[in-house]
Amino acid sequence: MAEEAAPRKKIILSGIQPTGVFTLGNYIGAIQNWERMQRDYRCAYFIADLHALTVRQEAGKLRAGTLSALAQLMACGIDPKKSLLFVQSHVPEHAEMSWLLSCHTQFGELSRMTQFKDKSAAHADNINAGLFTYPALMAADILLYQADYVPVGDDQRQHLELTRDIAVRMNGLYGNLFTLPEAYLPKQGARIRSLADPTKKMSKSDPNPNGAIYILDPPEVILKKVKRAVTDSEARVAYGEGKDGVNNLMTIYAAVTGRSMNEIEAEFAGHGYGDFKQAVGEAVAEYLRPVREKYAAYLNDRAYLEEVCKEGAAAASAVARRTLSKVKKKLGLLMK
Ligand code: TYM
Repeated sequence: MAEEAAPRKKIILSGIQPTGVFTLGNYIGAIQNWERMQRDYRCAYFIADLHALTVRQEAGKLRAGTLSALAQLMACGIDPKKSLLFVQSHVPEHAEMSWLLSCHTQFGELSRMTQFKDKSAAHADNINAGLFTYPALMAADILLYQADYVPVGDDQRQHLELTRDIAVRMNGLYGNLFTLPEAYLPKQGARIRSLADPTKKMSKSDPNPNGAIYILDPPEVILKKVKRAVTDSEARVAYGEGKDGVNNLMTIYAAVTGRSMNEIEAEFAGHGYGDFKQAVGEAVAEYLRPVREKYAAYLNDRAYLEEVCKEGAAAASAVARRTLSKVKKKLGLLMK
């Protein structure tokens, strides 16, 4: 009884593609918040393997990558006892809902998505329909669970806005079907940039091996990458215009130490970039240490990972099915 009277806990949902080891950008931009939010919210996190198919994948690599992604999330503190944790393709309601939503999404809206434009340019030989309708699947992921907040990095903000537009449109046509989700971006680090080219985002598929720090990189590799990071000729640790490389390192340092930009400037006043990079490299390596240590243990326990998948899928499906049935009924599909 008492439980029923308590206000409903807000619902959080987010996903990540299993296309390689997660980067520090993924961690700071998204997973760090996922972990923190488990305390105060009802959270659902999943591995977006269907989204990964919009780019050609090797089957064996994708399968192994999906289990690895699960172990990585758990090593980052995502706890299947606190949160719904599942693999997207294990919950068929996502693909089904995606069709219903794509019938309410306009060609013009999808054509404006910058990720579609970027990925089409990067994979000019495979501009498939899935790449185009990618945001409708993402909207399905979010709306099925009636999510209030979606913790993501800045690159997903446009997809979130489209999700809201679809939800508003369908709520208008059919009555209140969906909660309107809001993007939840980190205060600092919504866009971590490549260390090799700070005009670009840090990405799992960065062709430059020094551009991205991966969450499983050993300390010496992290230090080496940070030392090679592009900066400028000013030799002054300060946040400002035209200092993309230094701004990026400061953002990373702020995210892993909890310090403000002013505190960081004061800490390194009178020091060159050598000292600063050493401190950033060490702080990142230390920050990721527990993740590296826990990852190996989770990955070696395949039976446990499979059990997490199975239980996660069943629990997620139970939630997703409720929304899907409601939508199908309102759309006029004959119910069995
Ligand atoms: P993905 O796998 O590309 O990235 C996972 C999360 O990491 C964030 N991110 C970054 N944040 C800051 N700086 C960076 N350099 C950086 N790189 C990545 C992303 O913004 C994302 O939050 N389409 C999504 C997965 C997805 C999803 C969803 C997310 C599918 N369905 C529903 C939220 C809700 C994607 O490809 O993320």
